[in-house]
Formats: sequence, structure tokens, C-alpha cells
Amino acid sequence: MFSKEGKVKDVKTPRICDVVWHDGEFINWSDARVHVMSHVLHYGSSIFEGIRCYSTKQGPAVFRLREHMQRFLNSAKIYRMDHPWKLDELCDAAVEIVRRSGMDQCYLRPILFRSLDEANTAFGVNPFPNPLACYIGAWDWGKYLGDEAIEQGVDVCVSTWNRLTPNSMPAMAKSGANYMNSQLIKMEALLNGFAEGIALDDRGYVSEGSGENIFLVTGDVVLTPPLSSSILPGITRDSVIQICQELGITIKERTIQRAALYVADELFFTGTAAEVTPIRSVDRITVGSGGRGPITEKVQKLFFEMTKGERPAPGEWLTYVNKEKQAPPPPDGFHGRGLETSTEDTAPILFTTAARD
Ligand SMILES: Cc1ncc(COP(=O)(O)O)c(C=O)c1O
Repeated sequence: MFSKEGKVKDVKTPRICDVVWHDGEFINWSDARVHVMSHVLHYGSSIFEGIRCYSTKQGPAVFRLREHMQRFLNSAKIYRMDHPWKLDELCDAAVEIVRRSGMDQCYLRPILFRSLDEANTAFGVNPFPNPLACYIGAWDWGKYLGDEAIEQGVDVCVSTWNRLTPNSMPAMAKSGANYMNSQLIKMEALLNGFAEGIALDDRGYVSEGSGENIFLVTGDVVLTPPLSSSILPGITRDSVIQICQELGITIKERTIQRAALYVADELFFTGTAAEVTPIRSVDRITVGSGGRGPITEKVQKLFFEMTKGERPAPGEWLTYVNKEKQAPPPPDGFHGRGLETSTEDTAPILFTTAARD
């Protein structure tokens, strides 16, 4: 658990890639700069992604690259960012930066933001006169919620801060500005001695962590809040839904009351950074037996096997950076997503607001 030293502690970053992709070209890390009067710094006008590239026996492989880049494009569309980038170009750029980095595993950070045209300045809130700039950086990133968290779980609190309302700041877009809300949640949690905070939505139902989606296990059923609870449509969340299907575990999107967190058998976070992290207490109330529960462990095991390419995934989840080595095809009889009937309540990734409960 983080203590007050959480104020200065951050996720380990053993290596940073010394080049950054910028609008179609690779530039040096030290040349990737913006003017302090850029629109984004004042008005939060950025959208971004977080993508993990895993070390596999077949070399580095980017996890669910197309889905992440599609969400990137969706976020840009929501914020009327009229840029020239196509899905394939962004995916190629991501693969190329991993290749150039020489890293076997890393975290990729695409970002698109409103910049400043110094020859034709515009300083108002209206974003349209400001040029857009697109970058992708890469670094090696450790375990987001601490090294022991994956096995032992984390202690979290319910935040006094609510998640964004859908008609104020769309949680569906991964915009930089949304993370001011996340920062309030995170700072409050850290200063109170917790690793993370869970935010409720504006109606008082469970939404998500400051940078993670949440899952609740009750008996042999797994529940997760729907997109209508102001959550980011997480790619890891979608992966876990499909993994539960693969395991034959009933998984449903349901609005979840705060009190249900306290009496759950198991809770866990999902996210690109946090991966699948068990939650062992909420507001100092022990969850289940106070450690990683059996369903969480099963889901985690499959997730890590799939990210490492040790087990076929329900779809083409891995983009191998050394292109000649492609993911093995799913074996016969592997149905993957869509054929498991227990998840009729779940929404397709990225798009729908599943107000079905
Ligand atoms: C607020 C928030 N919710 C959920 C997630 C999990 O999303 P994903 O699994 O796509 O990383 C993240 C991380 O990106 C996040 O920042």
C-alpha cells in the first residue's frame, strides 16, 4: 500500500525511448517540445491513448493496438479534431517506434492536441484556429499500482469526488482534461494512505477508478458497471469480458451500488497500466478473504498468458513488431467472443452506452 510517500512515488520507468513520432516523422526525445502558450496547456485540449507492448517469445507484441487506435480516433472525433491520421498509419507508427526503441516491452503514449501557431497566434477558448499536433512516445513502465499489487491486491477508498457526468465531459473520450477529475480522485486516495480511489457516478453508482475499470465478483457471477455509469470503455475491460466468456463465467454489465463493493466476494481493477489488479479492501473494509480471489486469479492468469502470446486470444490481440512472426491462429473449437450466451448484457467495445439494467 502507498503511504504518504505516495506524494513523490511514481511507477518505475526503467527506460525511455530516445525518439518520438511526430506527425509522420521521428524526432529526438529532446526536440519534442511545445510552446507554453499552446491551447492544450491552458484549456486541456488533448486526447490520448495508453497501450502496452509485451515481451513475448516471438519478440515485442503490441496488445490490442487497433482497438486502442480506434478509441484514439473516436476521442478525436468527439472533440472535433480534424486531423489527417488514418487508423493504419497510427498503428504502423506505433509498431515502428517500438522497433526503433529496441525495447522488448514498453508502454506507448499517442497524443493529439491543440498547439500554437506562433506566426498566427490564437489564445481564446475556441480551439478551431489552433493547429493540431500528433505525437507517440514510448517508455518501459513497471507495475502501475506497485510491484506486489498483482498478487496481493491493493487497498482503496471510495472517493468523495464523483466521476464526470456524460453531458459535461464525456468519459467515453480519453481526453487529457478528464484526468483533472482523475487527479482529484488519485490525490485524495494517496494522501489518505490508499493506492487508488473508486469514483461514483453522478447518480451515486459505482463508476471506475482514476485510471482503471472495476469488476465485482459475487458467487460465480462477475459484474462490471455499464458505459452509462460514466466509464471509459476500457480495452482491458473488454478483454476481461471475453476472458470470462472463455472461462464459462457469467459476466454482466450492471449498475453497482457502493455498498455492494463492501460485501463483494472479490473485486479487481482492469486497465492498460494496472492490467488486472485485485482489490483487497475498500474504505478499510476487507473484501472477501482479503487477498486475490480465485476468479480474479483465473482471469489474471489467462490475461497474462494472452498478453505474452502463450495462449491464443479470442481475436488478433497481439501485433508482433517483427512482422514475419504472427500470432498463432485460434485452435479449432475456440469460439471467442459472441458465442457465449451468458454475456448478452454486455455492450460492444468502444461504442454503446449499455443502459440495460
Ligand atoms: C479513467 C480510466 N478508466 C479505465 C481505464 C482502463 O482502460 P484501458 O483498459 O483501455 O486501458 C483507464 C486507462 O486507460 C482510465 O484512465
